[in-house]
Amino acid sequence: MRVLLTGSSGWLGRYLAPLLAQNGHDVTGLDVVPGAYTQIVGTVADRALVERAMGEHGIDAIIHGGALHKPDIVRYPRQAFIDVNVTGTLNLIEAAVAAGNDRFLFTSTTSLMVRADVRAGAGDKGAWWMDEDFSPVEPRNIYGITKLAAEQAVKLIHREHGINVAILRTGRFFPEDDDTHAVPSGPNLKANELLHRRLTVEDAAAAHLAALEAAPAIGCDSFILSAPPPFARADAEELAHDARAVIARYYPDAAELYAAAGWTLPQTIDRVYDPSRAARRFGWRAQTDFASVLTALRNGTASPVAHDPDYTSPIVRQEREACTS
Ligand SMILES: NC(=O)c1ccc[n+]([C@@H]2O[C@H](COP(=O)([O-])OP(=O)(O)OC[C@H]3O[C@@H](n4cnc5c(N)ncnc54)[C@H](O)[C@@H]3O)[C@@H](O)[C@H]2O)c1
Repeated sequence: MRVLLTGSSGWLGRYLAPLLAQNGHDVTGLDVVPGAYTQIVGTVADRALVERAMGEHGIDAIIHGGALHKPDIVRYPRQAFIDVNVTGTLNLIEAAVAAGNDRFLFTSTTSLMVRADVRAGAGDKGAWWMDEDFSPVEPRNIYGITKLAAEQAVKLIHREHGINVAILRTGRFFPEDDDTHAVPSGPNLKANELLHRRLTVEDAAAAHLAALEAAPAIGCDSFILSAPPPFARADAEELAHDARAVIARYYPDAAELYAAAGWTLPQTIDRVYDPSRAARRFGWRAQTDFASVLTALRNGTASPVAHDPDYTSPIVRQEREACTS
């Protein structure tokens, strides 16, 4: 297929663009910042540019990964989030319908499900069990609000025009350090998160490819993307006060392997993302999970989760370069 990939200069884009090409797709990248996989430099908020891109490249399908996201909150006004994340998404899906495309993929975020009470910690029944039916959805910041509005917009266009829509509510896959948790840091935190709220960027890219190919059978649906948690819902109560005991039941040697690496297991886990709908509906399951980390620790090999404390998103890099030149 001739695929328009937005956000092609970003962290996901640089994995997804080559993966699509390896699988026989002809990819046109669109991003506000130049990059190795970006042929069109411009904003999704520019409707004329989007329409031109569709026509000039004969696009059959759009994967809309470009966005202002959580780290951008401190840098951009709320209006910019509306322009890029809401108007940009609407521009793209309306252009897709006008071009007769039969599918549209939207990269959304699990972050939009994190209400103030979810963020505050475990609920009455223990760890929050987060699947696609989790409600009410009340995003706590402009990033989540605009991603939710964009989800609603693409569902509306699906209802009105029938275009198949896959909404991929993706968990964490960023390589840099967390901007809110300092301890444990780096690879240790990322490994812990694979238990319940993270996936590798390679798995995120693979999910987009699988959803693109399955889209006509999907119709319109939302999917959580995260590494498969080892836990069952019945573990939720115990996870909230003694996660280590639960982890020991699933991985008896985890504590020892962690101790040898100087790492710490989480004492408590407040929420668990459940990606099983994606497995059921389009056969995607993350290849890297917590067991993969333990295997690496056991074998003394590199962690399978990318960690790059120096990663800066392309927009920020470009702005910094502009300031210093
Ligand atoms: N990184 C994560 O952990 C994570 C988690 C959940 C969801 N997501 C979502 O995944 C997608 C990709 O994120 P990423 O981690 O690769 O981030 P990134 O910042 O590395 O990449 C995002 C890209 O979007 C581009 N972009 C920004 N505004 C644009 C515009 N107006 N027009 C065209 N392109 C624009 C940026 O230049 C950048 O290259 C985003 O939609 C993000 O919301 C990311």
